[in-house]
Amino acid sequence: MTKIKKGIILSGGSGTRMYPMTSALSKQFLPIFDKPMIYYPLTTLMESGINDILVICNRDDLTLFNKLLGSGNQWGINISYEVQENPNGIAEAFIIGEKFIQNDNVALILGDNIIYGSSVKKTLSSLASNHHGASIFGYEVSDPERYGVAGFDEKGLLESIEEKPKNPKSNFAITGLYFYESEVIDVAKGLKPSKRGELEITDINNYFLQKKKLNFNKFDLGSAWLDAGTSSSLLSASEFISTLQERQGILIGSPELAALENKWINEDDIKSFFGLKIKSNYTNQIL
Ligand code: DAU
Repeated sequence: MTKIKKGIILSGGSGTRMYPMTSALSKQFLPIFDKPMIYYPLTTLMESGINDILVICNRDDLTLFNKLLGSGNQWGINISYEVQENPNGIAEAFIIGEKFIQNDNVALILGDNIIYGSSVKKTLSSLASNHHGASIFGYEVSDPERYGVAGFDEKGLLESIEEKPKNPKSNFAITGLYFYESEVIDVAKGLKPSKRGELEITDINNYFLQKKKLNFNKFDLGSAWLDAGTSSSLLSASEFISTLQERQGILIGSPELAALENKWINEDDIKSFFGLKIKSNYTNQIL
């Protein structure tokens, strides 16, 4: 089977870049306008057709994530949890998630990545419905040195990926959404920590690139990729979502709407979940 039904949301990390906001809880709980940050990557996975989700978080946040997301039953999906004891690197997600992944394809999304756009939605769901090898997604940015960066040959084909290079070979950042076949578990287990002491996702991607099993997809200009990893990018992300929602009159990053669209739940399920007690601007836009 080549369909991707499983996805991991990596929601740990040290959060030092956002201290003191993250001294008591992880940044993925912070609001992006009207919902917690983790709603956005969760919705992206659901929009790709993924309904079995593993949240990997710090031990201290486990109870809170459970309170926020629960079993996923309210959205007709399954959510389970694992702890990452230390921020040993993004690629550790596949070692922690080994039992969850088994022999299936898996998606990984970083808990602070916000991906938006109708064409993106289509691309992701069509890729996830028939997947081989590994798939990564590039987005053109003005500050590539903050990210994993794509390098291209003279034919425009991907030939390298470098993590936070001083002299980036292009303006294409590699976003925090990845699709892999289950071989990724063994690749992650074979990695050595980088100079900064982390198991690097970029090393995994370079492995698949060398094996000629890496699909590189560009997100188009009509889409948006935001990484809400700093205080100022958090504010910009909130402003972006607020402006777009107001203009278009739709909610972005709503697991309820993604679940309805996939027919995993119906409107009655939502009504009974929210009950009569919860009345917010958010619930008003769903019911
Ligand atoms: O956002 C995309 C970028 O994410 C990619 O372009 C880079 O190749 C990739 O290395 C990563 O770079 P960052 O410097 O943004 O990663 P950061 O350490 O901020 O971690 C991203 C998210 O993953 C964040 O929500 C915290 C979580 N995380 C990170 C590490 C290292 C964990 O949960 N555990 C970890 O061990």
